[in-house]
Amino acid sequence: MKTIIEPFRIKMVEPLKLTTPAERDAILRKAHFNPFQIPAEDVLIDLLTDSGTSAMSSEQWAGIMRGDESYAGARSWFRFEKSLRDITGMPHILPTHQGRASERILFELVGGPGKYVPNNNHFDTTRANIEHSGAIAVDLVIDEGGMPRVHHPFKGNLDPHKLRGLIAEVGAKQIPLCMITVTNNSGGGQPVSLANIREIRRICDQHHIPLFLDACRFAENAWFIKQREPGRQDQSIREIVREMFSMVDGATISAKKDGLVNIGGVLLMRDDVLAERANNLLILTEGFVTYGGLAGRDLEAMAQGFQEVLEEDYLNYRIRSVAYLGEGLLKAGVQIIEPPGGHAIYIDASAFCPHLPPDQFPGQALLGAFYRHGGIRAVEIGSVMFGRTDPATGQTVHPSMQLVRLAIPRRVYTQSHIDYVIETVAEVFQQREKIRGLRITDAPQVLRHFTAKFEEV
Ligand code: F0G
Repeated sequence: MKTIIEPFRIKMVEPLKLTTPAERDAILRKAHFNPFQIPAEDVLIDLLTDSGTSAMSSEQWAGIMRGDESYAGARSWFRFEKSLRDITGMPHILPTHQGRASERILFELVGGPGKYVPNNNHFDTTRANIEHSGAIAVDLVIDEGGMPRVHHPFKGNLDPHKLRGLIAEVGAKQIPLCMITVTNNSGGGQPVSLANIREIRRICDQHHIPLFLDACRFAENAWFIKQREPGRQDQSIREIVREMFSMVDGATISAKKDGLVNIGGVLLMRDDVLAERANNLLILTEGFVTYGGLAGRDLEAMAQGFQEVLEEDYLNYRIRSVAYLGEGLLKAGVQIIEPPGGHAIYIDASAFCPHLPPDQFPGQALLGAFYRHGGIRAVEIGSVMFGRTDPATGQTVHPSMQLVRLAIPRRVYTQSHIDYVIETVAEVFQQREKIRGLRITDAPQVLRHFTAKFEEV
C-alpha cells in the first residue's frame, strides 16, 4: 500500500525555534517542571493538546474575511447554524466560546447537589463543571477501557451493566442526564460504537434519563465506526455522524477539536424548554444567542471547519498519522494504550518509569525528560491531573493509569516532525532509569495540572 500523505499542501509557514539541551534545562526549571508554564516559543514540537491548535484551511481564512460582525442575526450566524444542523440534525444550536462554556451552561441547568452524572470517562473540565454544580461525576467505561494493552475495537464504550448498577443504586431521579464522550479522551482517545450508543439510549429511555454526547471528536469517532463496526464500511461519514446524533438529546462540543478552529464551541439540544433556559444563561454570560461570545468571523471558520472535518481523505490521513506515531513508539519498545486512539498517543508512564511510584508523578517526570531531550511538550494524564486527597483519610487517591499524552494538532505537523518525536522518545526510553521523580511544592485546589509547581526528588 502507498504512503498515506497529508492531503493538503502548505501555503504559509511558521518558523520553529531550535534550542539547546542546556537552554531547555534552564527553561524547564524556571517553569517548575510544569509544561503549561513553558512559553510556547521555547517548544519545538508542541503536543500539549489537539485543542485550538489546528491549521485552518484557505476556505476558513476566506470565511474569516467574510465574517459578518452584526450583533444580532448576522449572516455568519445563519451559515454556522445551517452547517451544524446539516451535520447533526439538532433543532437547537447554541454557539459558545468553547466546550467548557457549553458544559457550564448545561450543568448549571441540570446539575446540583445529590445528582449523579455518568459518562464513559469525564474530561477534566466536564468533571469540574459537574462538581462545581454540587453533583457527582461518575466514570463507567467498560473494563477494557482501563487496561492499556488489551485490544478492543471500541474501548471507549460505556458499560451498560455499570450504568444499570448506578441507576439501581442512586435512582433514576437523581440522574439528570447521561453523557458519552466521543472519542473518549481521558480513556486514550478510544472510540464508542453506534451499537453502544443505541444500547445506552435504550437503558436511558427505560428510566427517562436524557442522553448527551460530549462530541468534541465526533468525526474521528465516526471514522473508527466506519473502519471497525460490522456493516458500516459502506456508509458515508456523514451518515454515521447523523446516526450518532439522532440517538441523543443533545451534545456539548468544543469546536477547537473537530471543528478545526482555534476557538469556539457548541451546545446542542432537542428539548425546547431546556434550550430556552440555556439561551437565557447564554445571554447572561456568553453573549446574544446568534454569536455566543464569538466574533462573526469565528462562526464562519467553524461553519467551514465542521464540514471539512468530515472529508474522508482528511480523516484517513488524520487517523493514520496518529497510528503511525503509535506504531513507531511500540517498535521502540515503549508501551502505549493500544490500539492507538484518534487524536493522541498515550504512553504508559508507569511502564516507562517502573522505578517511579505514582506519588513521584512518573507521567510529569516523563514530560520533563521529553522536553529536555528534544523540546517536545506533552501533557500528563495521571496523578497530577486526577489524583486527589481523600477527605476522610487524608490519603492521596491515584487514578488507575499514569499516562503521558502526545496529542497531535490537526493539519500542523508533517511525517518528518512525527519521525523526530519517535526518535526523541526512543532515545529517552534508552536512558529511562536516569529519569528522576517529582514532588509538588505548590498547587491550587482545582485543575491543579495547569499551575502546580514541582521539584525533582
Ligand atoms: N470535553 C472533552 C472530551 C475535551 O477533550 C475537552 C477539551 C473539553 C470537553 C473542553 O473543551 O477546552 O473547548 O473548553 N480538551 C482539551 C484537551 C483541552 O487538551 O484535551 P474546551
